[in-house]
This record gives sequence, structure tokens and C-alpha cells, in this order.
Amino acid sequence: MTTNGSTNGAANGDAKHYVTRRGRLAGKNAFITGGAGGIGLETTILFLQEGASVILADINTKALDTAMTKIQDIVGEQTASKAKTVQCDVTNESSVEAAIAAADEWGGVDIVFNNAGIMHGDDADAIDTSEKIWDLTQAINVKGVWYGSKHAVLSMRKHKKTKGSVINTASFVALMGAATPQLAYTASKGAVLAMTRELAMVHARENIRFNSLCPGPLNTPLLQDWLGDDQAKRHRREVHFPSGRFGEAIEQAQAVLFLASDESSFVNATDFVVDGGLSKAYVTAEGPAPAGPKNQVST
Ligand SMILES: NC(=O)c1ccc[n+]([C@@H]2O[C@H](COP(=O)([O-])OP(=O)(O)OC[C@H]3O[C@@H](n4cnc5c(N)ncnc54)[C@H](O)[C@@H]3O)[C@@H](O)[C@H]2O)c1
Repeated sequence: MTTNGSTNGAANGDAKHYVTRRGRLAGKNAFITGGAGGIGLETTILFLQEGASVILADINTKALDTAMTKIQDIVGEQTASKAKTVQCDVTNESSVEAAIAAADEWGGVDIVFNNAGIMHGDDADAIDTSEKIWDLTQAINVKGVWYGSKHAVLSMRKHKKTKGSVINTASFVALMGAATPQLAYTASKGAVLAMTRELAMVHARENIRFNSLCPGPLNTPLLQDWLGDDQAKRHRREVHFPSGRFGEAIEQAQAVLFLASDESSFVNATDFVVDGGLSKAYVTAEGPAPAGPKNQVST
């Protein structure tokens, strides 16, 4: 079997050598927000390894520089040369428009992953969440996804794409209730699900697919910094995990890869849940937690 110019597989009788990277995104241009860390960075690396060119957009320029160094380390200079970093604040439409336009010289975007999001430490219940935290959370998590979706469609039209894939990061909390509330965050992720579903219907005949990614609780700074060393706070959540562990960013990236690729051509408007079974759990499973996969980026 030949992929990406390299020969894999074996002669008759030899043990099979399985291909791990198959060029599943060869020739495609991707735009990823929140690309400097967590899910966004693991996805960037996987996309590059699968043959895409990638624009990593993030508000944090220092984190973008660090991310680029890690990318070069992991994929090598040649593949890393297909990645570009752009500072972008997803709450600002002209910033998003300009960042997506960075793909114009490549022929425009084929894939947009609207993934930037925050979960603020001061987000609480209906009584204690301030208007400031509410507005900030909706601005990044909802308005940012709207702008990213809008300029994805406009870029795809401008470059006369015959197909496209947009993936918007929601969360399993949009599907389940938590007695440890983060009301602004939960509401924002519910909005992402509803908005993405409708975008999927509106743009279906343009062959632009829209799917939501619903990650379960992960081993990324967004959640782990917030949980800190508070064992009771951790236990209250961990007791519900069928897998006995947090998810890894690479496990989300693998799902995004599928949704971004043409392999998912008939997958549209889904709430694509990647949560280790958490949202289907009733009684807690027992026994030691099986190990998860390693991320490509070490934290
Ligand atoms: N970590 C989890 O447990 C979990 C669970 C469900 C959903 N999610 C969602 O997954 C997405 C990625 O989360 P993560 O865990 O990788 O988090 P992360 O904090 O590692 O990454 C988020 C990135 O978004 C960037 N960002 C924040 N505000 C921005 C803005 N205004 N403009 C542009 N970039 C901005 C940050 O700089 C950061 O690099 C988020 O939407 C989050 O809500 C995470």
C-alpha cells in the first residue's frame, strides 16, 4: 500500500506493517481556533501529519510561539512549514475574518475547527454568576463560533469549494446536568449545539457539513487547572467516569480528524460525543482504570 509517497505493508507471508498516517487530509487547508493548546494543538499536529496545511489561530501569541516549537519538534521542519500561526481574538469579527483570510494564498479553507473556548473560574450558578462573566463566556464560546462559521462559509464560497467541513467544539455539559454549576459555560455550549445543527441544515446543499464535538472531561489545562489539588472536587466527578480516567486531547483530535476528512461525508449535524461513555452512565463501573493513549505534545 502506498501512501504519501512511502511504501508500507509487506511482501507475501511477512507480518503486516500497519500504516498509522494515511494522508487523510492531503491537499486540504484547515483553520483551527484555540490552536495553541489542548485539543487545538493536538488536532493541528494530527492534521499536519495527515497532509493538511494548517492555520493555528489563538489570542495568546506567546503560546502560539511555544506551540510552533513543539510542532517542529514532533513533525519535523518540512511538515511544520505547512503550519502558520495567526493571532486572533474570536470575539472580534474582523480579527476572525483576517485570520481565515490567511488561507487565501493557499486557495482558501476546506476545514474550519472553531474550538477556542473558556470556562471561567468565577462562573457559578444563576445567583452568583456575574453579568461580566456571562457576557465574556458567551462572547468567546458562542459569538466566536458564529464568526468562525460565518467566515468559513464566506471563504469556501469565495474560493468556489465544492465541499467543506466545519467542526464546532461544544461539550458533554450541553447534554447533561451538573449539580456543580457553571451556568454561563453550560448555556454557551448548548448554544453551540443548536447553532451548529441549524448551520448544517442551511448549508447542506452547498456540501458544507457542520458537526459539533462534545468532549467529556479532559486532561487539559482548561479543566485540570480549575480542579487543582481539590481531591473532593475531583472525586465528585471521577466517580461518574465509566473509563475511570479523564480523556486525552489526542482522543478528541482523532474524532475531529474523522469529521474533517471526506470519510465522514454523510455525517452532518451530529452532536459527536467523545466522552468515554460518561453521558450514558448510570451505575459506576469498578476496577482499575485502563490507560489512555499518550498525547503527542507532552505537557
Ligand atoms: N478540557 C475539557 O475538559 C473540555 C471538555 C469539554 C469541552 N471542552 C472545550 O474544548 C475546547 C478546547 O479546550 P481545551 O481543553 O483544549 O482548552 P485550552 O484552554 O487548552 O485551549 C483553549 C485555547 O483557546 C484560546 N482562546 C481563549 N480565548 C480566546 C479568544 N478570545 N480568541 C482566540 N483564542 C482564544 C486559549 O488561548 C487556548 O489556547 C474549548 O471550547 C472547551 O470549552 C473542553
